[in-house]
Amino acid sequence: MEFMPRITRAQPMDVLSSQSNLAGYGAVIAAAGAYGRAFPMMMTAAGTVSAARVFVMGVGVAGLQAIATARRLGAIVSATDVRSATKEQIQSLGAKPVFVEAVAGIEGEGAGGYATEMSVEYQRAQAELVSAHIAKQDIVITTALIPGKKAPRLVTDAQIATMKPGSVIFDLAAASGGNVEGSVADDVVECHGVKIIAYANPPAHLAADASALYARNLFNFLSAFWDNNAGRPVLDAEIGDAVRLTAGGKVVSGRLLG
Ligand code: NAI
Repeated sequence: MEFMPRITRAQPMDVLSSQSNLAGYGAVIAAAGAYGRAFPMMMTAAGTVSAARVFVMGVGVAGLQAIATARRLGAIVSATDVRSATKEQIQSLGAKPVFVEAVAGIEGEGAGGYATEMSVEYQRAQAELVSAHIAKQDIVITTALIPGKKAPRLVTDAQIATMKPGSVIFDLAAASGGNVEGSVADDVVECHGVKIIAYANPPAHLAADASALYARNLFNFLSAFWDNNAGRPVLDAEIGDAVRLTAGGKVVSGRLLG
C-alpha cells in the first residue's frame, strides 16, 4: 500500500498521506505535553505568558499538519523545506517560511514532489540558516524524509546546545535514521536541557484513527478496482504497476528489484 503513486486519483488510497497526517498532529500534541509551558500567548492579571515558537522542518503531509496543529494551539510557527513549492503552503497556513536563498532548492513538484539528497553547498547553507533560527525556538518538529535513503541530518548536537533549556524537539524521522543528532526511537532523551522525543511508529500513538483511515484506504483501493465478473480486483496500469509486487511467480516490483 505504501507504493501507491502520489497522484490525485490515488489520494483516497494513499496510506502514506493518511498516516503522515496523523503523525504530524501527534508530534505537536506530544511536544506540547512535554513542554513545561503554554503554547498561546496569555495576558493575565498575574502577568503575560509568551507564545511558544514552533519550527517545523520538512513540509510534506506530516509537516503541513504539524504547522496547522501548532497554529491552532496558538504558537508562532515557522517552517522550512528544500522544495520551494512549499513556501506558499506554509504562508497559507499562517506560518513564516524560513528558506535557504543563496543556493537553489528543488523547484516544482519534481518526480512525485519528492525531495532528493541536496548538494554539500546547499547542506552548508541550510545548516547556517538553521543555526541562526533554532536558538530562538521552543519547539522543533522534524519530518524530513528522502524516499529510499537515510533521513537527512538537520539538527546537530551543537545546534541543540544553543536552544533554551526546557525546549522540546520531536524527531518524526527517527525510524529512518533520524533528522536530529541523539534522538532515540521510542524514547525521550535529554541533551543540553532539551527534550528530544521520537517514536518508531508515530501513527500507532493515534491507533484508533490510524486503523480507521488505513482500513478506509484499503476499502477505497479494493472497491475502485473490484471487477464483479472476474471476482477480484483488476488493476489499471498506472496504479497496478506501482503497487504490484509479484506476478506469474516472479517478483515484478521495480521498487523491490531496485
Ligand atoms: P516525505 O515524507 O517524503 O518528506 C517530508 C518532507 O521533507 C518533504 O516535504 C521533503 O521535501 C522534506 N525534506 C527532505 N529533505 C529535506 C531537507 N534536507 N531539509 C528540509 N526538508 C527536507 O514527504 P511526503 O509527505 O510523503 O510528501 C511528498 C510529496 O508528495 C509532496 O510534494 C506532497 O505534496 C506530495 N503528495 C501528493 C499527493 C497527491 O496525491 N498529489 C498526496 C500526498 C503527497
